[in-house]
Amino acid sequence: MDFKPRDVPALRVQRSLPLRLRRTPGEGRSGSGVGEVEWVRIRRCSRQPIAPRAAPIPVVLPWVWVLGNPELIVRTHGVHRVKVLTFFNHAGGVAKTSTVRDVGYVLGELGKRVLLVDVDPQANLTKWLGVEDDVELEDTIYPGVITSAADEADGIEPALALPAPRRVHGVDLLPSHLNLAILEREILSVFMGVMRLREAVRTLEGYDYVLIDPPPSLGQLSALAVVAADRVIVPLPTNRKGLDGLPTVMRMVREYRKAAPALDIALFVLTQHDRRTRHDRESREVIERQLTSVAPVSTPLNSRPAYYSDAQVQGMPVSVYAPGSEADLEVRQVTAELLEALEGPLR
Ligand SMILES: Nc1ncnc2c1ncn2[C@@H]1O[C@H](COP(=O)(O)OP(=O)(O)OP(=O)(O)O)[C@@H](O)[C@H]1O
Ligand SMILES: [Mg+2]
Repeated sequence: MDFKPRDVPALRVQRSLPLRLRRTPGEGRSGSGVGEVEWVRIRRCSRQPIAPRAAPIPVVLPWVWVLGNPELIVRTHGVHRVKVLTFFNHAGGVAKTSTVRDVGYVLGELGKRVLLVDVDPQANLTKWLGVEDDVELEDTIYPGVITSAADEADGIEPALALPAPRRVHGVDLLPSHLNLAILEREILSVFMGVMRLREAVRTLEGYDYVLIDPPPSLGQLSALAVVAADRVIVPLPTNRKGLDGLPTVMRMVREYRKAAPALDIALFVLTQHDRRTRHDRESREVIERQLTSVAPVSTPLNSRPAYYSDAQVQGMPVSVYAPGSEADLEVRQVTAELLEALEGPLR
């Protein structure tokens, strides 16, 4: 990836220099874009590194003057950081979980490193990925959010850490359990408790995307899940229910922004679209007319009850259950649109 000096904050003042900047493939931490410079290596031609091999930028800059027109290899951090996406709509049954499962799987298949986080005590995401019986509360987000009673009794600094995820269908999963519902109450007694998942996911390394599936509510678990996000994805059925819920979705995103000021909607994903009915076609038009100025609106995931219920029973993403089907192609299309909304047009 080629940079311009103005893209690297520490080099902005050196704009006038004929620098050639490049990020070494694979040396960024995770993600894409430009951020704080971690270190810089300098070389005159593409094979020969020139001392200092790797150094903070103040050490390197004098070499830039001495060498005239060197190539700088810049390693940045805070750039390639994991992107946390929460699929939020307080309304029930709008395909939040199905979309997290299916889009998450396709992202994994595209080579992205993906963690799916089930924050819903219904644990549908967990079950629909084929994980059934052996989940304990300790395997969920719970230990990343609530300090253990033993630590508290000992007055020990809270050792909050998310547990090791399990690997399913090429992605990692932090599963859920019915008992996770106790978080609704317990989190209220924790100072700034609603920020805990946000902090916990930001300690994770090695992921490109974390996709969070909240429950259908406006309770503490939903707040925890949405406040954790960098971006919100709104699954939206193309019907009356979808339209009626929209004002609340928008209002709640504004509310959650008080805790996470940069929070924004990245994409509205149209779900359960029945193109045979005029009602759905008209609802789609209204949604597109009203929302495109807020965020991109996806092409619809069409209503395909047979595929979706069978995939559920089999514990598989739709793209695994029915590869090459129209349902699969639609999920891939929406995933591409999500990537474009997040990262710009694919090259
Ligand atoms: N494109 C689709 N075609 C047909 N059925 C679908 C489609 N998408 C989702 N469904 C079905 O709709 C139901 C609700 O979907 P899902 O559970 O994903 O929604 P949700 O918003 O997560 O629900 P909840 O609010 O209960 O968490 C499920 O039975 C699912 O199989
Ligand atoms: Mg759900």
